[in-house]
Amino acid sequence: MELLMNYKNFHVIDHPLVKHKITYIRDKYTCKKNFKELVDEVGIFLAYEVTRDFPLIDVEVETPLTKTKAQILAGKKPVLVPILRAGVGMLDGFLKIMPSARIGHIGISRNEETLEPEAYYCKLPVDASQRTIILIDPMLATGGSAAAAAARIKEEGVKRIKFMCLIAAPEGIKKFCEAHPDIEVYAGCLDEKLNEKGYILPGLGDAGDRLCGTKPTPYMQPLGVNFLGY
Ligand code: PRP
Ligand code: URA
Repeated sequence: MELLMNYKNFHVIDHPLVKHKITYIRDKYTCKKNFKELVDEVGIFLAYEVTRDFPLIDVEVETPLTKTKAQILAGKKPVLVPILRAGVGMLDGFLKIMPSARIGHIGISRNEETLEPEAYYCKLPVDASQRTIILIDPMLATGGSAAAAAARIKEEGVKRIKFMCLIAAPEGIKKFCEAHPDIEVYAGCLDEKLNEKGYILPGLGDAGDRLCGTKPTPYMQPLGVNFLGY
Protein backbone atom coordinates (compact mmCIF):
# COMPACT_ATOMS: atom_id res chain seq x y z
CA MET A 1 0.00 0.00 0.00
CA GLU A 2 2.91 2.32 0.74
CA LEU A 3 3.97 1.68 -2.84
CA LEU A 4 0.67 3.02 -4.11
CA MET A 5 1.33 6.26 -2.25
CA ASN A 6 4.80 6.58 -3.77
CA TYR A 7 3.74 6.31 -7.38
CA LYS A 8 0.79 8.52 -8.22
CA ASN A 9 0.68 7.13 -11.75
CA PHE A 10 0.00 3.56 -10.50
CA HIS A 11 -3.64 2.47 -10.07
CA VAL A 12 -5.12 -0.84 -8.95
CA ILE A 13 -8.66 -1.64 -10.08
CA ASP A 14 -10.60 -1.96 -6.84
CA HIS A 15 -13.62 -4.07 -7.72
CA PRO A 16 -14.98 -7.30 -6.21
CA LEU A 17 -15.55 -8.90 -9.62
CA VAL A 18 -11.94 -8.26 -10.61
CA LYS A 19 -10.70 -9.83 -7.36
CA HIS A 20 -13.02 -12.82 -7.91
CA LYS A 21 -11.90 -13.38 -11.50
CA ILE A 22 -8.20 -12.98 -10.73
CA THR A 23 -8.51 -15.67 -8.07
CA TYR A 24 -9.68 -18.10 -10.75
CA ILE A 25 -6.98 -16.87 -13.14
CA ARG A 26 -4.35 -17.67 -10.50
CA ASP A 27 -5.71 -21.17 -9.91
CA LYS A 28 -3.37 -23.68 -11.53
CA TYR A 29 -6.37 -25.93 -12.25
CA THR A 30 -8.00 -23.32 -14.45
CA CYS A 31 -7.84 -24.66 -18.00
CA LYS A 32 -6.69 -22.75 -21.08
CA LYS A 33 -10.22 -21.92 -22.27
CA ASN A 34 -11.39 -20.55 -18.95
CA PHE A 35 -8.09 -18.76 -18.36
CA LYS A 36 -8.45 -16.84 -21.63
CA GLU A 37 -12.11 -16.00 -20.97
CA LEU A 38 -11.32 -14.70 -17.49
CA VAL A 39 -8.41 -12.62 -18.80
CA ASP A 40 -10.78 -11.09 -21.37
CA GLU A 41 -13.32 -10.31 -18.66
CA VAL A 42 -10.77 -8.57 -16.43
CA GLY A 43 -9.54 -6.79 -19.56
CA ILE A 44 -12.97 -5.17 -19.88
CA PHE A 45 -12.70 -3.70 -16.37
CA LEU A 46 -9.18 -2.45 -17.10
CA ALA A 47 -10.33 -0.89 -20.38
CA TYR A 48 -13.16 0.84 -18.53
CA GLU A 49 -10.68 2.55 -16.18
CA VAL A 50 -8.03 3.27 -18.82
CA THR A 51 -10.56 5.11 -20.98
CA ARG A 52 -12.18 7.04 -18.13
CA ASP A 53 -10.53 10.37 -19.00
CA PHE A 54 -10.98 10.13 -22.76
CA PRO A 55 -12.24 13.50 -24.06
CA LEU A 56 -15.77 13.98 -25.43
CA ILE A 57 -17.31 16.38 -27.93
CA ASP A 58 -20.86 17.66 -28.04
CA VAL A 59 -23.03 16.51 -30.91
CA GLU A 60 -26.69 16.65 -31.79
CA VAL A 61 -28.55 13.37 -32.24
CA GLU A 62 -32.03 12.73 -33.52
CA THR A 63 -33.93 10.09 -31.55
CA PRO A 64 -37.20 8.66 -32.90
CA LEU A 65 -38.94 11.34 -30.78
CA THR A 66 -36.82 14.48 -30.81
CA LYS A 67 -33.45 16.10 -31.33
CA THR A 68 -31.11 16.28 -28.34
CA LYS A 69 -27.61 17.29 -27.44
CA ALA A 70 -25.33 14.35 -26.62
CA GLN A 71 -21.65 13.46 -26.52
CA ILE A 72 -19.30 11.16 -28.41
CA LEU A 73 -15.59 10.43 -28.05
CA ALA A 74 -13.38 13.12 -29.51
CA GLY A 75 -10.32 12.74 -31.69
CA LYS A 76 -8.57 9.79 -33.23
CA LYS A 77 -9.14 6.23 -32.09
CA PRO A 78 -6.58 4.92 -29.57
CA VAL A 79 -4.04 2.27 -30.50
CA LEU A 80 -3.84 -0.93 -28.49
CA VAL A 81 -0.29 -2.24 -28.41
CA PRO A 82 0.08 -5.69 -26.86
CA ILE A 83 3.58 -6.79 -25.93
CA LEU A 84 4.09 -10.08 -27.80
CA ARG A 85 3.15 -12.61 -27.05
CA ALA A 86 1.11 -12.71 -23.83
CA GLY A 87 -0.24 -9.19 -24.37
CA VAL A 88 -2.15 -10.40 -27.43
CA GLY A 89 -4.19 -12.62 -25.14
CA MET A 90 -5.45 -9.49 -23.36
CA LEU A 91 -6.65 -7.59 -26.43
CA ASP A 92 -10.14 -9.01 -26.72
CA GLY A 93 -11.56 -7.52 -23.53
CA PHE A 94 -10.61 -4.02 -24.63
CA LEU A 95 -11.92 -4.62 -28.14
CA LYS A 96 -15.28 -5.67 -26.73
CA ILE A 97 -15.88 -2.17 -25.39
CA MET A 98 -13.96 -0.29 -28.10
CA PRO A 99 -13.96 -2.40 -31.25
CA SER A 100 -12.74 0.42 -33.49
CA ALA A 101 -9.48 0.88 -31.58
CA ARG A 102 -6.43 0.50 -33.81
CA ILE A 103 -3.87 -2.23 -33.11
CA GLY A 104 -0.07 -2.14 -33.12
CA HIS A 105 2.38 -4.79 -31.96
CA ILE A 106 5.63 -4.69 -30.07
CA GLY A 107 7.81 -7.76 -29.69
CA ILE A 108 9.82 -7.93 -26.48
CA SER A 109 10.97 -11.12 -24.88
CA ARG A 110 12.47 -11.43 -21.44
CA ASN A 111 15.78 -13.30 -21.46
CA GLU A 112 15.18 -16.11 -19.00
CA GLU A 113 18.82 -16.03 -17.78
CA THR A 114 19.47 -12.30 -17.41
CA LEU A 115 15.79 -11.23 -17.09
CA GLU A 116 16.71 -8.36 -19.44
CA PRO A 117 14.20 -7.41 -22.16
CA GLU A 118 15.12 -8.18 -25.78
CA ALA A 119 13.23 -6.20 -28.41
CA TYR A 120 12.58 -7.91 -31.75
CA TYR A 121 9.60 -6.23 -33.43
CA CYS A 122 7.63 -3.00 -33.54
CA LYS A 123 4.76 -2.15 -35.89
CA LEU A 124 2.52 0.81 -35.08
CA PRO A 125 -0.05 2.68 -37.18
CA VAL A 126 1.67 5.34 -39.35
CA ASP A 127 -0.03 8.15 -37.43
CA ALA A 128 0.61 6.63 -33.98
CA SER A 129 2.23 9.86 -32.76
CA GLN A 130 -1.17 11.60 -33.01
CA ARG A 131 -3.00 8.95 -31.01
CA THR A 132 -3.20 7.63 -27.45
CA ILE A 133 -1.32 4.34 -27.15
CA ILE A 134 -2.52 1.73 -24.69
CA LEU A 135 0.29 -0.68 -23.96
CA ILE A 136 -0.95 -4.10 -22.84
CA ASP A 137 0.79 -6.96 -21.04
CA PRO A 138 -0.64 -9.27 -18.37
CA MET A 139 2.54 -9.28 -16.26
CA LEU A 140 4.61 -6.41 -14.83
CA ALA A 141 7.37 -8.44 -13.14
CA THR A 142 10.82 -6.78 -13.13
CA GLY A 143 9.25 -4.09 -15.31
CA GLY A 144 12.01 -4.44 -17.90
CA SER A 145 9.76 -5.48 -20.80
CA ALA A 146 7.09 -2.84 -20.25
CA ALA A 147 9.63 -0.05 -19.63
CA ALA A 148 11.54 -0.98 -22.81
CA ALA A 149 8.29 -1.16 -24.79
CA ALA A 150 7.22 2.29 -23.63
CA ALA A 151 10.67 3.71 -24.45
CA ARG A 152 10.52 2.18 -27.95
CA ILE A 153 7.03 3.64 -28.54
CA LYS A 154 8.22 7.08 -27.40
CA GLU A 155 10.93 6.88 -30.09
CA GLU A 156 8.08 7.04 -32.62
CA GLY A 157 7.11 10.46 -31.27
CA VAL A 158 4.13 9.22 -29.24
CA LYS A 159 3.24 11.65 -26.45
CA ARG A 160 0.32 9.94 -24.74
CA ILE A 161 0.76 6.37 -23.48
CA LYS A 162 -1.13 4.34 -20.88
CA PHE A 163 -0.23 0.87 -19.66
CA MET A 164 -2.57 -1.86 -18.46
CA CYS A 165 -1.63 -5.18 -16.88
CA LEU A 166 -3.30 -7.96 -14.97
CA ILE A 167 -0.78 -8.44 -12.17
CA ALA A 168 1.98 -6.08 -11.04
CA ALA A 169 4.92 -6.79 -8.71
CA PRO A 170 6.39 -4.03 -6.53
CA GLU A 171 9.74 -4.32 -8.36
CA GLY A 172 8.08 -3.75 -11.72
CA ILE A 173 5.99 -0.84 -10.52
CA LYS A 174 9.08 0.90 -9.16
CA LYS A 175 11.07 0.36 -12.34
CA PHE A 176 8.26 1.36 -14.71
CA CYS A 177 6.90 4.33 -12.77
CA GLU A 178 10.37 5.78 -12.22
CA ALA A 179 11.31 5.35 -15.90
CA HIS A 180 7.97 6.67 -17.16
CA PRO A 181 6.30 8.96 -14.60
CA ASP A 182 4.24 10.40 -17.46
CA ILE A 183 2.47 7.06 -18.11
CA GLU A 184 -0.57 6.03 -16.07
CA VAL A 185 -0.45 2.35 -15.10
CA TYR A 186 -3.61 0.32 -14.42
CA ALA A 187 -3.31 -3.12 -12.82
CA GLY A 188 -5.85 -5.76 -11.86
CA CYS A 189 -3.92 -6.40 -8.65
CA LEU A 190 -0.70 -5.72 -6.80
CA ASP A 191 1.21 -8.86 -5.81
CA GLU A 192 3.86 -9.47 -3.15
CA LYS A 193 7.23 -9.94 -4.82
CA LEU A 194 9.31 -11.78 -7.42
CA ASN A 195 10.87 -15.19 -6.88
CA GLU A 196 14.54 -15.93 -7.69
CA LYS A 197 13.59 -16.60 -11.33
CA GLY A 198 11.78 -13.30 -11.73
CA TYR A 199 8.29 -14.80 -11.55
CA ILE A 200 5.60 -12.91 -9.69
CA LEU A 201 4.46 -14.38 -6.35
CA PRO A 202 1.77 -15.45 -5.85
CA GLY A 203 1.16 -14.60 -9.52
CA LEU A 204 -0.38 -16.90 -12.07
CA GLY A 205 2.67 -18.64 -13.52
CA ASP A 206 3.73 -17.98 -17.10
CA ALA A 207 1.01 -15.89 -18.72
CA GLY A 208 2.16 -16.55 -22.29
CA ASP A 209 2.29 -20.30 -21.80
CA ARG A 210 -1.10 -20.42 -20.09
CA LEU A 211 -2.72 -18.29 -22.80
CA CYS A 212 -1.10 -20.13 -25.70
CA GLY A 213 -0.94 -23.62 -24.21
CA THR A 214 2.73 -23.94 -25.13
CA LYS A 215 3.99 -25.87 -22.11
CA PRO A 216 2.84 -29.23 -20.82
CA THR A 217 0.32 -28.68 -18.09
CA PRO A 218 0.73 -31.67 -15.79
CA TYR A 219 -1.58 -30.09 -13.28
CA MET A 220 -4.56 -30.37 -15.63
CA GLN A 221 -6.89 -33.12 -14.57
CA PRO A 222 -8.47 -34.78 -17.62
CA LEU A 223 -11.52 -35.82 -15.68
CA GLY A 224 -11.34 -33.15 -13.02
CA VAL A 225 -13.29 -29.98 -12.42
CA ASN A 226 -12.12 -28.43 -15.68
CA PHE A 227 -13.21 -31.24 -17.95
CA LEU A 228 -15.77 -29.15 -19.84
CA GLY A 229 -13.12 -26.52 -20.54
CA TYR A 230 -10.85 -28.59 -22.77
C1 PRP B 1 6.40 -12.12 -19.96
C2 PRP B 1 5.26 -11.15 -19.77
C3 PRP B 1 5.96 -9.83 -19.88
C4 PRP B 1 7.28 -10.09 -19.24
C5 PRP B 1 7.26 -9.56 -17.84
O1 PRP B 1 6.71 -12.26 -21.29
O2 PRP B 1 4.22 -11.33 -20.70
O3 PRP B 1 6.11 -9.37 -21.21
O4 PRP B 1 7.45 -11.52 -19.19
O5 PRP B 1 8.50 -9.68 -17.26
P1 PRP B 1 9.39 -8.42 -16.86
O6 PRP B 1 8.48 -7.41 -16.25
O7 PRP B 1 10.36 -9.01 -15.89
O8 PRP B 1 10.05 -7.92 -18.11
P2 PRP B 1 7.86 -13.21 -21.82
O9 PRP B 1 9.14 -12.44 -21.98
O10 PRP B 1 7.93 -14.44 -20.99
O11 PRP B 1 7.40 -13.52 -23.29
P3 PRP B 1 6.08 -14.23 -23.82
O12 PRP B 1 4.96 -13.21 -23.74
O13 PRP B 1 6.44 -14.54 -25.22
O14 PRP B 1 5.80 -15.44 -22.98
N1 URA C 1 6.20 -13.42 -16.94
C1 URA C 1 5.16 -14.24 -16.66
O1 URA C 1 4.47 -14.73 -17.56
N2 URA C 1 4.88 -14.48 -15.36
C2 URA C 1 5.59 -13.95 -14.38
O2 URA C 1 5.27 -14.20 -13.20
C3 URA C 1 6.68 -13.12 -14.68
C4 URA C 1 6.96 -12.86 -15.97
